[in-house]
Amino acid sequence: MAYRIGVIGGGQLARMMVPPAVHLGLEISVLAEAEGSSARLAATAVGDHRDVEAVLAFARGVDAVTFDHEHVPQPVLAALVDAGVAVHPGPSALAVAQDKLVMRERLGALGVPVPDWARVHDEAGLADFLADHGGRGVVKTPRGGYDGKGVRVVSSATEAADWFAVAAEGDGALLVEELVDFRRELAQSVARRPSGEVVAWPLVESVQRDGVCAEVFAPAPRAGERFEAAAADVARTIATELGVTGVLAVELFETTDGRLLVNELAMRPHNTGHWTIEGSTTSQFEQHLRAVLDLPLGDTTPRAPWTVMVNVLGGPAEGTLADRLPGLLAAQPTAKVHDYGKDPRPGRKVGHVTVLGDDLDDAVARARAAAAHFDD
Ligand SMILES: Nc1ncnc2c1ncn2[C@@H]1O[C@H](COP(=O)(O)OP(=O)(O)O)[C@@H](O)[C@H]1O
Ligand SMILES: [Mg+2]
Repeated sequence: MAYRIGVIGGGQLARMMVPPAVHLGLEISVLAEAEGSSARLAATAVGDHRDVEAVLAFARGVDAVTFDHEHVPQPVLAALVDAGVAVHPGPSALAVAQDKLVMRERLGALGVPVPDWARVHDEAGLADFLADHGGRGVVKTPRGGYDGKGVRVVSSATEAADWFAVAAEGDGALLVEELVDFRRELAQSVARRPSGEVVAWPLVESVQRDGVCAEVFAPAPRAGERFEAAAADVARTIATELGVTGVLAVELFETTDGRLLVNELAMRPHNTGHWTIEGSTTSQFEQHLRAVLDLPLGDTTPRAPWTVMVNVLGGPAEGTLADRLPGLLAAQPTAKVHDYGKDPRPGRKVGHVTVLGDDLDDAVARARAAAAHFDD
């Protein structure tokens, strides 16, 4: 009988797991939050990922459950485990990805280099941290943030007053970090099977705009073997020590003084790994499915010297991406186009474009030109 995989969450990550599932002959089903989700082609159920009964009913017919996002509450994860469902990544690993304060604590305990940080409960605590760090810092809500929502650069403690008010409804704490002086952002992805095998992709560079991933260059230009080895080492250590199963993406800062610091972790396929769909022998989506089903992992050798991924953020001001598709395909025959089937909205990730090439500048130019067809 075919392997059956269930994905909780119907976003574009679940959508992009569908083609490799089809290729490998896996049965994939998705628990989507609403009708018409990005992953609607595989959505066999619509339900709330916080609803234990809905999640248990969905999981009944599958061999392993995995995720499109990290927001399934711990009690729901525990209920799945109690019911005998294989959950990958497992609850204890996911707990580290769900809360940026827990993440900082665990990474620190592993000896992984991270920015200076503190748990702050009020404006006085924040003011103390800022005073010790040149008067500025980055405040983050521990839970629920994504694409820069929940991240704010501040130069006075009063600038976080609204977030302290919201945090007071929980345990009251916010995360504050030093404002890292970075040369660029990098990302290192690995995949790990429950039985322990770990495979890494090349280190990549990611460019963020307004806290959102805009472009990815693979491999990271001019990184050097020392950096590449250090990044892969850090990701392998984190995956192994936290017992991550599936894809782990580690977001990194390359500081202006040449250090590598870990920003955050994602325990699922990640935007900085979309280039692997065409650019790697095994894509992050295929690898994630293999890993969570404890199947042997695939080779990650790049298919070209350079792969460039450009996100489509927002989409066209009028009409749909489909309206622009013929023009894009005609103008950029080497571009690989991904439309997530989502309604255009300012800043929203609605698609991406990938280009492979022998010359980085040329690949960047083609990828940007292709994405522009969808974006203006
Ligand atoms: N300590 C920091 N110093 C400087 N820039 C930061 C810091 N933390 C985050 N950023 C910037 O904000 C972006 C989003 O922050 P991140 O913690 O990754 O949140 P999200 O969960 O929204 O991705 C990062 O990619 C980086 O560009
Ligand atoms: Mg991030």
